[in-house]
Amino acid sequence: MKMLYIKLKFLPIFSLIYRLMRRFIIKCFRIKSFFRKKVFDFEEVIEFGDLLLESLDRRVGEYIHEFPLPDKKGVWVHDLYFPSPLIVSSFKDNPVALEVWLKMGMGGFIFKTILENSQEGNPRPRIVDFDQKGEILNAMGLPGKGLEGLRNIICSNQALLGFERPVGISVGGKTKEEYCRNFLFMNKLCDNFPKTAFFFELNISCPNIDEGKSLTENHESFKETLLFLRKHTSRVVGVKLSPDQSNEDIVRYIETISELDKTYVNLGNTTYRDRKKMGLSSEDFFPKGGGLSGDSLFPRTLEMLQLAKPFNVPVLSTGGVSKLEQAESLLQEGASLVGIATALVKDPYRVIQMNLEVLNSKETD
Ligand SMILES: Cc1cc2nc3c(=O)[nH]c(=O)nc-3n(C[C@H](O)[C@H](O)[C@H](O)COP(=O)(O)O)c2cc1C
Repeated sequence: MKMLYIKLKFLPIFSLIYRLMRRFIIKCFRIKSFFRKKVFDFEEVIEFGDLLLESLDRRVGEYIHEFPLPDKKGVWVHDLYFPSPLIVSSFKDNPVALEVWLKMGMGGFIFKTILENSQEGNPRPRIVDFDQKGEILNAMGLPGKGLEGLRNIICSNQALLGFERPVGISVGGKTKEEYCRNFLFMNKLCDNFPKTAFFFELNISCPNIDEGKSLTENHESFKETLLFLRKHTSRVVGVKLSPDQSNEDIVRYIETISELDKTYVNLGNTTYRDRKKMGLSSEDFFPKGGGLSGDSLFPRTLEMLQLAKPFNVPVLSTGGVSKLEQAESLLQEGASLVGIATALVKDPYRVIQMNLEVLNSKETD
C-alpha cells in the first residue's frame, strides 16, 4: 500500500525520467549514425527500446510498471468488459510492450494489423519521430509475421490473456478475399477462448497499402466483407475508419456498421501526409508519404465522433489523445472507449496519470 502511494506520488518524476531517457537514447543513435556515416533510422531506437523495456520489466517491473486499475469504473461494449475506457490502439505486436501497458492499467489492447503472410513492409527509413510536436509519421506498410506469427503469440503468451482484458485482433488484407481468409483463420484460432477474451477489428483504413485502401473506397465490397465476418462469428466486430474519408462517406459506413448486431466503429486512424510537406527528404523517410499520428489529429477525432451521434453504435475514438481533457471530452461526447498509440510511446507515465484521473473523474459523476 505504501509502495503504491509512493509510486503514484512520483508519477510526474517517472514521466520526466522516461522523457529524458528517451531523448538521450535518440541522441545517442543519431550520433552513432553520424559517425558510421549511416542514415538515422528511428526503428533502431524502437528495437533498442523494446529490448530495454523487456530487461527493465524483468528486473524492476514491479516497481516501475505496475499501477492500479480501479475495476469498478469500467465500460461494457456489448459483452466485453473493459476495466478502463483507455485502450492500446492497434500499432504494436511485441507481447512484452503490450503486457507492460496492461500492467500500467490500460483497459485492453488491439494487436497490430495482421496480413496473411509474413512480410517486411516498406523500405526503411519509414518512421520519423517529431519529438517536440508529439507526432509520428510512419509508412511501415504492415510488416509482421502473418497469421502464423499471430498463432505463436497467442499460444506462447498466456500472460497476455491472464489479464482478462479484451484483446482485439486487427484484420488486414490486400483484397476482399484475403480479409475473409485471414479472418476465418483468426476466428478458428480463438475458438477455444471465451467470447469475452477476443474481438475483431476490420482495418479498412491503412493508408500504406494501396490494395488495402480498397474497402474504404468500395462500399459494396466493404459491406460484403463485414457481413461475412458477422455471419461467421458471434464475437464483437469493429471497423476502423479513416480521418481521410469524407464526412459523407464516414456517415454511410457508420450506418452500415450500426445495422448489424454486436459491432462498434473505431474513428479513426493516421492521416496521410506527403513526405515533402513534412519537410523530409528520401534519406529521412523513404516512402513518398505516410500516416501522421499524434497531437494534431485530435480536432478531427472529435469531429468524427459527432458524425456517429445519430447512430446507435458504440464508438472507439482514436487519434491525438495525450491529455486528460481530451480523453474526457471524447467520453463526454459519447465515445465508449478511447484508443491511444503515439502518446504511449512518447510517455506512458502521462497516460497512466490520465488513466487514473479519467477513472476518478468518472467516479464523481
Ligand atoms: C508506428 C505505427 C504503426 C501503426 N500500425 C497500425 C496498424 O497496424 N493497424 C492500425 O489499425 N493502425 C495502426 N496505427 C494507427 C494507430 O492505431 C492509431 O489509430 C493512430 O496512430 C492514431 O492514434 P494516436 O494519435 O494515438 O497515435 C499505427 C500507428 C503507428 C504510429
